[in-house]
Amino acid sequence: MKTELLPVDDFSLKKAEELLRSGQVVAFPTETVYGLGAWAFSAEGIDRVYEAKGRPSDNPLIVHVAPGMDLSKIVTEIPEKARILMERYWPGPLTIILPKTEDVPLRVTGGLSTVAVRMPSHPAAMKLIGSTGLPIVAPSANTSGRPSPTSAQHVLEDLRGKIPLILDGGKCQVGLESTIVDLTEEVPMILRPGAITLAMLEEAVGEVDVDPAVRAAVGIQSDLVPKAPGMKYRHYAPKGYLILTDEGPDQIADWIRQDLAGKEQKIGLIGSDEWIRKVENSLGPVRITAVSLGSAMDEIARKLFDGLRKTDEEGLEKIYGEAFQRKDLGEAIMNRFLKAASERRISEQTKQ
Ligand code: TXA
Ligand code: MG
Repeated sequence: MKTELLPVDDFSLKKAEELLRSGQVVAFPTETVYGLGAWAFSAEGIDRVYEAKGRPSDNPLIVHVAPGMDLSKIVTEIPEKARILMERYWPGPLTIILPKTEDVPLRVTGGLSTVAVRMPSHPAAMKLIGSTGLPIVAPSANTSGRPSPTSAQHVLEDLRGKIPLILDGGKCQVGLESTIVDLTEEVPMILRPGAITLAMLEEAVGEVDVDPAVRAAVGIQSDLVPKAPGMKYRHYAPKGYLILTDEGPDQIADWIRQDLAGKEQKIGLIGSDEWIRKVENSLGPVRITAVSLGSAMDEIARKLFDGLRKTDEEGLEKIYGEAFQRKDLGEAIMNRFLKAASERRISEQTKQ
């Protein structure tokens, strides 16, 4: 199959609509990451999404909606707290889990009685969903296990030849997938951290829990089954051996010298500008490849998945990554970064 890459305009949107209505898939930009869309009521389209991504079928999909769309076809009820969150943070990077109606196919929800709903704020996504009036299921448009795509080029890398159309809307603003909040219980629960942080949710609706499995991702507990099925899968991993650390630059420089003395291998760094500069200073004349994620936390979030892909392009075999503070946006960044590192981490506190 030939994969077309088109800018977002009336022509490409029309083409996307025709494809979606006929049970095909289309990749499109959202403010978080690129999605691989299918019409939520097309069994064929849904099957194609799983197939193109190589995704396990027990991993449910998020239904994307647009302003003004009738949600009563998708969810049986919208409790007060859900309504408040929708008003405050939609359109935006927040996914809400609610009980599903009978209309929503079980293929979408992986057999669950709940459904995940999100209203993206990216103009292209809003246009595509709004102008067609079609609710669209969309997982991140990467091959299962790879870093989520934050540019049309990333989608092309993973899905070229497997899907007919990619709408190119440039780079994604947020860069990490949406926050997922379960609103089927009295106290809302975060199932996946994202740019809408715990503090932002609490500010709107009071007490909010975090699925203990989210924190298990940093190795405090490990036998917990996450409530969002997708969170249990290995994710984002680069080809090189990535290990995160909050040790100081001199210690990291020592490790790198040892690595290089032992055998010939391509060692690299991934982290903030400042951290890279410090490690490079400690290394002195030794030159290694560095992938910079910028400086502010929102910039680091935006560049993380692209940075992980770059470590592959550079052919890095062993990569030291900066362990960020797990606070606010740092929670979401570290959730993804630690998965990419298969939880490998050397910490000043634990010396693990
Ligand atoms: O930002 C995003 O959310 C992106 C863009 C494209 O919108 N989409 C995305 O989809 O990240 P995906 O499929 O890569 O991740 C969806 C996550 C999975 O971990 C899945 O298990 C979880 O949402 N999920 C979906 N429906 C659920 C449900 N009913 N209950 C619990 N978790 C659910
Ligand atoms: Mg994904």
